[in-house]
Amino acid sequence: MYNAFFGFTDSPFNLSPDPAFLYRSEQHEEALANLIYGVQSRKGFIVLTGEVGTGKTTMLECLRDFLESQYIEFAFIFNSRINSDQFFEMIAYDLDLRCQRTSKTEVLFALNQLLLQQSQQGRTTVLIIDEAHNLEWEVLEEIRLLGNLENRRGKLIQVILAGQPELDRKLDAPNLRQLKQRIVLRCALEPLDLGQTTEYINSRMEKGGMPGQQVFPPDLIADIHGRSQGIPRVINAICDNLLLTCFAMETRIATVEMLDEVSKDMRLEWPGRRPRGQRSRYADETLEQAPFFTRGD
Ligand SMILES: Nc1ncnc2c1ncn2[C@@H]1O[C@H](COP(=O)(O)OP(=O)(O)O)[C@@H](O)[C@H]1O
Ligand SMILES: [Mg+2]
Repeated sequence: MYNAFFGFTDSPFNLSPDPAFLYRSEQHEEALANLIYGVQSRKGFIVLTGEVGTGKTTMLECLRDFLESQYIEFAFIFNSRINSDQFFEMIAYDLDLRCQRTSKTEVLFALNQLLLQQSQQGRTTVLIIDEAHNLEWEVLEEIRLLGNLENRRGKLIQVILAGQPELDRKLDAPNLRQLKQRIVLRCALEPLDLGQTTEYINSRMEKGGMPGQQVFPPDLIADIHGRSQGIPRVINAICDNLLLTCFAMETRIATVEMLDEVSKDMRLEWPGRRPRGQRSRYADETLEQAPFFTRGD
């Protein structure tokens, strides 16, 4: 809507996990390197965790680009609220297995054939599961069994589990001990610090077609960092709303008054926030509170 006004070639703060807008922070770079290394080294399970909106799906999309560029077969399961029948059906669909896709036995047979054939050609096969903290126990058990498939060259399938921090806790459960032992790599995405938030905003503005942006002055970015708690998805939503407000007011510089308005519309809560003119009765607790933001997901 505001693209023409600012001269953007592409909206800088889209909420989609688009690798074209990737900001290569040290930790995102490291996470991606780990995912790629994990796949190439064929050791087994890799786990990626992070709070909502820290960039997990974006990392997986970058990995998808890598796998496609290397012609590595993969199944990408992003709806994890499934039972084990649906799980096998989705794998069969993604890997284009020629078999009766509703029959677990047939899918397993066809999958095994594919894995062996890929392995003979010196390639591995990858199973990526996003939102893995939602997986049911029975599906986790099936995944563990798939991870057992190997020939003399090593594991036939590399499994990547990405999810919110409770995934780590789930994997600590006694009945998943065997799966846990197979995890060779773990990485966690943390929120961005102030310096990274500044680079992040500048990088997205530049990719949208505005290098050396001045719409968000340094003071305002510090405020955006505080209110978003460094969570990329929240930063995107705030900045997108600020750009929209600038457009509506026909100005090219965002202000703290606009940020207050946007925060109110978004019902944003952040540690240390005080309702105007009031002191919180729970002053100590407010500082402990995690940022709250009513998201679409
Ligand atoms: N390193 C990054 N570079 C660019 N955009 C990012 C980065 N990390 C997160 N984002 C953006 O933040 C939003 C949330 O990221 P997403 O990958 O969906 O998070 P998660 O899967 O952890 O909830 C998306 O709009 C995404 O484009
Ligand atoms: Mg995600």
